This record gives sequence, structure tokens and C-alpha cells, in this order.
Amino acid sequence: MAEQHFLDITHLAKRFDTEHGELTVFDDVSFGLDKGEFVCIIGHSGCGKSTILNVLAGLDSPSGGEVYMAGKEVRGPSLERGVVFQNYSLLPWRSALSNVEFGVRARFPGWSKSRVREHSLQYLHMVGLKDGAEHRKPSALSGGMRQRVSIARAFATQPQLLLLDEPFGALDALTRGTIQDELLKICAETHQTVFMITHDVDEAILLADRILLMTNGPHARVAESVKVSIERPRDRTTIVHDAGYYPIRTHLVDFLVSRSRELSDRDDAVRDAGHTREVQAEAMAPVEVDPAADARAEAAGFARPHAPDPHAPPPLKAVNGN
Ligand SMILES: Nc1ncnc2c1ncn2[C@@H]1O[C@H](COP(=O)(O)OP(=O)(O)OP(=O)(O)O)[C@@H](O)[C@H]1O
Ligand SMILES: [Mg+2]
Repeated sequence: MAEQHFLDITHLAKRFDTEHGELTVFDDVSFGLDKGEFVCIIGHSGCGKSTILNVLAGLDSPSGGEVYMAGKEVRGPSLERGVVFQNYSLLPWRSALSNVEFGVRARFPGWSKSRVREHSLQYLHMVGLKDGAEHRKPSALSGGMRQRVSIARAFATQPQLLLLDEPFGALDALTRGTIQDELLKICAETHQTVFMITHDVDEAILLADRILLMTNGPHARVAESVKVSIERPRDRTTIVHDAGYYPIRTHLVDFLVSRSRELSDRDDAVRDAGHTREVQAEAMAPVEVDPAADARAEAAGFARPHAPDPHAPPPLKAVNGN
């Protein structure tokens, strides 16, 4: 397959056999990530976000479709992809420091013991684990502290692709803010490529270059790719004053409140109508939107040429009876 993006996800499908029959979580998810891009994905609970992330990590295999990273098919886990799971997964018999060191040693096998330690401590301190907490085992840490160890481990291994599944969900607002700032700093310095799941629209706007919006499942899909055209560097205290902030925020909230369900109902109708695969694919192709640019253009007194109407249903040009 010709490489188009650093990460290419094509026609990804995932089906599970359940006691109530086959569950199609999604059957045609396609998108790409460029090198250095920060992409967030948002969608209602159960639509399949973690399932996609696990496939990208190589920890789960898809029922159909392909994932390519840097031109190579993803099959199985790799140290080139660092993951922070929704439910932090640490080695329970190792201390926080030892958990991070374990990842760093595997990633940089040539490093001396002292370099591994120094590097691991730097990341543990970054997430606020110090004063003895770094030597405690996971069972002696709070949920938020465990999540911070898991974040430190993923960041410290400096993978080509960082996969984050609601990484800050268990953290208090202050710690969350500090780690978001660190993540912004790391991304600015290293051009880290990140794919992140979040339920927090403000967090997505602060961090992402692009936000993918998923319809409700089953048969979920990526319906929109929302560009976050707010200049960097971004600062949590001032970003809300950017003219593009609320147009993007409103767009995301509208999607979660109504369009995710409306589009999912419409997709069901398109599938039930028995159209060809091509017609279905066209009807369900993701729409690219840039609410901030649209708002700026409107404020300047003109409509952007070809600005897509996000409320318009996906295009349906041809219908046949197949
Ligand atoms: N092993 C499995 N067997 C059967 N169904 C599964 C399995 N794993 C996940 N599912 C189902 O797949 C769907 C998608 O799950 P997934 O965990 O990807 O959702 P999610 O979007 O990450 O949700 P949340 O926001 O709650 O984390 C859900 O309906 C879930 O019940
Ligand atoms: Mg999930």
C-alpha cells in the first residue's frame, strides 16, 4: 500500500461475537495522521474509541482493514508506539520508578543504569511524583498517581507514536493542567505524533491540531474531522479569548448533543436502503470542517468559499435499488 500519511488507517472494521449475535462496533473507519500531528478523537461511550486505539497499538487485531505506520503494517505491539491505557496497567510487583525504568531500558537498551534512572526520574517528577512516591508499588498509590506513572512511562520511552486513552480522566484539575502543559511542551519540542481519546472538549481544543468526531455505535464511523485553527503556542488561560475558541467548542458540543445520534440514524437508513457499497461509502465519507476559520470569515463579512455546512447530511448523489 502506498504511504500517504505517517499513520494510515484504511477501512478498519471490528466485529465481536456476543451472546446476542454479532456486534459490529465499526465497519469502515478510515483516517490518517501526519508526522508531528496531534489528533484527538471524541465520541459517546461505547462507540469504539478504545477499540480503535488498541488496534493502532497492535494489541488487538481488526476484523477488516489495515493500519500502516511509516509504511509498515502494524501487526502486534512495538516500542515505537507508547500507550497510556484507560485503566492504567502497571506491573504490580515493581515500584513506580521501576515501572518507568522497565520501559526506558527496553526502549534504550544501550543506556547505562544511571542514565536510565535519571531519565525515568525526570519524567516521574514531571508528573509530580516525588518525595518517596516514586518508590512505592502501585497498590500503595492512588488511582490518579498510578495514572501518572503510566503517563511518565509512555512519555519517557519517546515513541514514534503516542496513543493516549483518556489519560487525564482520573487526575485532579491542577495535576491535569500541569500535565497538559508538559504535553504541549513536549509536542512543541519534539514534534511528537499523538492520537488521544478524550471526553473533554476543552482539553481537545487546547491540545489538538485536529479532532475526529465519531457517530454513536454500533456501526460507528468517523463523521467529521474538525480542524483546530488556533495558533500555537496555546495557553489554557488565554485560549478561551481566541475568536475561534467558542465556534469550535459549540461545533463539538452540538455534535455530541445531537449530530452523533442523527448521523447514526441516517447511516442506518442508508444501510437499510440497500445502496451499493460505493453509494454508502460516499454517503458516509468524513466531512472536513474548520469552525474557527468559518467564524473569522463571517466576522469579516464574507462566507468562506466552499465552506462545508456541518449540519448538511452527507452527500447522497446516486441511489439505485441494488
Ligand atoms: N471483547 C469484547 N467483546 C464484546 N464486545 C466488546 C468487547 N470489547 C469491546 N466491546 C464492545 O465494543 C464497543 C466499543 O467499546 P470501546 O471500549 O471501544 O468503547 P469506547 O468508545 O472506548 O467507550 P468509552 O468512552 O466508554 O471508553 C462497546 O459496545 C463494547 O461493549
Ligand atoms: Mg474507551
